[in-house]
Amino acid sequence: MVIRPSVESLALIIEEMRTWDFDPDLAPLHVGDLGWFQQFGATALADALRVWRVDGRLAAVGLLDEPDLLRLTVAPERRHDESFVARLVADLAADDERVLPSGEVAVEARFGGPLHELLLAQGWAYDEPWTPLVRDLSSEVPGHHLRIEDVDPHRIDDRLAVHHSAFERSTFDKGRWQALTEGPAYSPARSLVGYDDHDDAVAMVTVWAGPLGGPGELEPMGVHRDHQGRGHGRAICLAAAAALKEMGSSHAFVSTPSANVGAVATYRAAGYEEKPQVRDLRRPA
Ligand SMILES: CC(C)(COP(=O)(O)OP(=O)(O)OC[C@H]1O[C@@H](n2cnc3c(N)ncnc32)[C@H](O)[C@@H]1OP(=O)(O)O)[C@@H](O)C(=O)NCCC(=O)NCCS
Repeated sequence: MVIRPSVESLALIIEEMRTWDFDPDLAPLHVGDLGWFQQFGATALADALRVWRVDGRLAAVGLLDEPDLLRLTVAPERRHDESFVARLVADLAADDERVLPSGEVAVEARFGGPLHELLLAQGWAYDEPWTPLVRDLSSEVPGHHLRIEDVDPHRIDDRLAVHHSAFERSTFDKGRWQALTEGPAYSPARSLVGYDDHDDAVAMVTVWAGPLGGPGELEPMGVHRDHQGRGHGRAICLAAAAALKEMGSSHAFVSTPSANVGAVATYRAAGYEEKPQVRDLRRPA
């Protein structure tokens, strides 16, 4: 029953996902994650997606975000639908490369219902903890000391310089930025660069509005290595929250490996509330 979507169907999948209720406290798969993956092109995104439909309606979406990680989300009305969840589990357990690659693999499933119990009963085990962090946008977002500019073709070099300094192994480049801005999830989204008093580009973030009037995601966020420890991380997270509020989002949220204590501390410093940890499920080898 799993479907490997066509490039032509990507916009529709994203549109349908935007109608789902979204619980930022669990930080499940968000349209922003699909949008960020679009940097590799529409064909790569379609290849990485697995989709389940029931009566023609989107019931579940999985994104093979890493070679050994499927990030899965299920439509709210299907999470407690035992027969659907049992079919999903059967698909995950089957030796079927259209669903999961062979070998050791993890599934992210941050939603309620019986899925976790069913996978644990089949010998799957919990993986490393992640921490969701959420900022409610119903009240004003405080100001900060950075000058914030939207990334455009003239500012992309600044954005890339900060990005590569914050994420040393990243291969993100101009072509990829162009590709992600052309994807259906980038509307509405914004990429920001923060400049300090010396006009140096010091921080960057991309924010993705998701469900209409619902939570929006930060992905990615980072501060230039040479400028860390000066409050720029806190400032760019406040700028991200302000941008999402302007776009009509109810919350700004993010999730980060709990081991990234610097990131957790930075989001907290910007008023993001730390939520209970969530864990992926790892299939036994
Ligand atoms: C995480 C990161 C953005 C922090 O940027 P920064 O500019 O150094 O952060 P700030 O100076 O604004 O610090 C904000 C708060 O976090 C704390 N903090 C920052 N890095 C920390 C660390 N490594 N360990 C503990 N606390 C840390 C600061 O002490 C400060 O706390 P305070 O307000 O209570 O004093 C930066 O280290 C970075 O870009 N890392 C690599 C990319 C990354 O991990 N991004 C997040 C992915 S989700």
